[in-house]
Amino acid sequence: MAKRALVTGGAGLIGSHVTDLLVREGWKVRCLDNLEPQTHRRGRPAWINEKAEFVYADLRDRDMIATALDKIDVVFHQAAYGGYMPEIAKYVHVNSLGTAQMLEVIREKNLPIRKIIAASSQAVYSEGAGECPKHGLVFPPVRPVEQLRRGDWQVHCPLCDAIIGSVPTPENAPVGGETVYGLTKMDQERLVLLWGKQVGIPTVALRYSCTYGPRQSIFNPYTGVIAIFCTRLLNNLPPVLYEDGEQTRDFSFVEDIAHANLLAGETDELDGLPVNVGSGRGTPIRQIAEQLSFALKIHIAPEVNGEFRPGEMRHLTSDTTRIRSIGYEPQVDLAKGIARYVEWIRSQSDIRDYFSEAAEILRNKGIVHRVAR
Ligand SMILES: NC(=O)c1ccc[n+]([C@@H]2O[C@H](COP(=O)([O-])OP(=O)(O)OC[C@H]3O[C@@H](n4cnc5c(N)ncnc54)[C@H](O)[C@@H]3O)[C@@H](O)[C@H]2O)c1
Ligand SMILES: [Zn+2]
Repeated sequence: MAKRALVTGGAGLIGSHVTDLLVREGWKVRCLDNLEPQTHRRGRPAWINEKAEFVYADLRDRDMIATALDKIDVVFHQAAYGGYMPEIAKYVHVNSLGTAQMLEVIREKNLPIRKIIAASSQAVYSEGAGECPKHGLVFPPVRPVEQLRRGDWQVHCPLCDAIIGSVPTPENAPVGGETVYGLTKMDQERLVLLWGKQVGIPTVALRYSCTYGPRQSIFNPYTGVIAIFCTRLLNNLPPVLYEDGEQTRDFSFVEDIAHANLLAGETDELDGLPVNVGSGRGTPIRQIAEQLSFALKIHIAPEVNGEFRPGEMRHLTSDTTRIRSIGYEPQVDLAKGIARYVEWIRSQSDIRDYFSEAAEILRNKGIVHRVAR
């Protein structure tokens, strides 16, 4: 019999690709999404899979979530409020409470859910792991805001203060989250994993790296560096680099992330675990801006104006040993993925710059700071 899945956030970047993959694999899929206006400014996107059942509802709507969970085997929980937005209560409400309430409903109604895969994030780490020439592998804390205000972007060894290089971060690195978003991703992850153990339902938390690809919102100026840089360039505006642009991130093409979900849904080897999903490679943000500029053939140099976001990591590359042990292998490298993304965004109409306005809000709300002159 076909397996039945509920994909929360099924209209979004990752959820819609998870949906397509599951449908192709013969699953019966139901999506739940409230079409968050920040992400879907022009309403219901055309890419929602016609073979999936679509439930237009908020994750926080107890009755609707109960209906959506009816006759489901596996939940792929992707819905979340993401990025660097100022509405801190909304993060807690959607991500933490929404997740907790979904679990409560499953328990209360004794629903025969066989597994829950939750979208966690690399944002649960404080800073990427580092290697000190003297102390070897170290887990530095988040860089103090006073240090950043001086324009010192480097990561220092917590034991001897030497400047350290970045190495892949394993799942046993310290977690906690240094942004409100990160904190609530931590909540989602911990809630799902510990509740799963309590009630005996297998759960997995996939800590995605920066995910990009076709369908990433072209409207949301608070999340998705590749989408933000592209929309800037397409409006003949420079991408804005925080710090000096040399911070690195691990980028994953969305189809690879969808595949990781399918694998996690089909094996029991990851049950009960947080699992990094990434490429295992770090790329400087400045290089992303350059690659996009090249791919779009819009040659505008990125802008660096001494701004930074407290709580942001300097470097984060995922150690992907755990997910690779079940056969995961990313298929789309950054060059190919960027080409696919650029082809897609070129096909979208009326691409506007929402970043300028958002940047002003972030400055006023103290989310973006500037170095002291
Ligand atoms: N894209 C990334 O780089 C990245 C990295 C790490 C983790 N994640 C996580 O992956 C998941 C999916 O992210 P994405 O990149 O596809 O984002 P996205 O914004 O494209 O998709 C999220 C979807 O959830 C929906 N949603 C938001 N609030 C909701 C609510 N209250 N009720 C119902 N639906 C709601 C939105 O309408 C949207 O369609 C999220 O949990 C996110 O935290 C994403
Ligand atoms: Zn040291």
